Amino acid sequence: MSPFLLTRTLPEDTTDAALRADVSHGLTRTPKTLPPKWFYDARGSELFEQITELPEYYPTRAEREILIARADEIAEATGARTLIELGSGSSEKTRHLLDALRELHTYVPVDVSESALTQAGVALAAERPDLDVHALIADFTGGLTLPDTPGPRLVAFLGGTIGNLMPAERAAFLSSVRSLLAPGDALLLGTDLVKDPSVLVDAYDDAAGVTAAFNKNVLSVVSRELGADFDLDAFGHVALWDAENEWIEMRLRSRREQTVKIPALDLAVDFADGEDVRTEVSAKFHKEGVRSELAAAGLDLAHWWTDEGGRFALSLSVAR
Ligand code: SAH
Ligand code: TRP
Repeated sequence: MSPFLLTRTLPEDTTDAALRADVSHGLTRTPKTLPPKWFYDARGSELFEQITELPEYYPTRAEREILIARADEIAEATGARTLIELGSGSSEKTRHLLDALRELHTYVPVDVSESALTQAGVALAAERPDLDVHALIADFTGGLTLPDTPGPRLVAFLGGTIGNLMPAERAAFLSSVRSLLAPGDALLLGTDLVKDPSVLVDAYDDAAGVTAAFNKNVLSVVSRELGADFDLDAFGHVALWDAENEWIEMRLRSRREQTVKIPALDLAVDFADGEDVRTEVSAKFHKEGVRSELAAAGLDLAHWWTDEGGRFALSLSVAR
């Protein structure tokens, strides 16, 4: 069994304070918002894994197809000895990369979901006795402190998760990733691409209702952590294509006029009939947009790979 280390850089009480701040800020402004990182408690991470298997949710399959086709090229181009994966979740697709990276010494999965990290990390450490697995419970938007491991470094950010950040957050995030890298180190980035809006909307509003349950799970988190009395049946799941911003926007729509009490915040929140809470965006990209956002952060696009269907892209960029 190889070493499996778990480091928590998010103390439980900080998490709690951050949740309180986000909820009291988000539910007292117009329009109401709740930030996406609170989707991912143990149940949320489980629901996300179910999303990845839905017939309508193509991004996981498309990205896996690219990883399988290009893993050897990625290994060749980077010679990575340390792989840092942000928002690693189950690390399921990452296995193709881990198997191809011949020089790999340490894998550092980073996630806010302790349950997902522990499950994935323990399994990997058992399967790959040659690999150091150093898991980090951390917020990837918060300035990471990484363990001191051998270079070259490769940072992977898969799943199109970058699209869940707003444009200004994306720029700050990419600069912070660049600051983790030495010149010549690389970023492997998964981005979902702009396509027929009906295909996009279906991917975020599946027939079986799994995405609806995932979206509503944020209300369960607020109820459990802050004692709120959200009635999940009193909200509907909405996924909209915003053509101007080129993103899918997820909302929770109040099915009636209602007041929700949040005792831990000493707050009562009024909802009008049909009022929306905005929970998440998932931006979709074009090659030139990705190239210029990377360049602005000091990362030069070196490879751009898509799946057969041209739905999803994986890019490899190199730190200047
Ligand atoms: N990479 C996996 C999972 C994508 S889902 C895949 O491609 O399938 C997004 C993941 O990012 C979840 O595991 C979630 O817990 C994590 N996450 C979301 N916001 C985060 C944040 N601010 N900091 C760290 N992890 C975050
Ligand atoms: N990174 C994923 C994406 O944007 C996250 C995701 C998938 C998601 N389905 C969702 C987030 C539904 C909120 C609601 O595709």
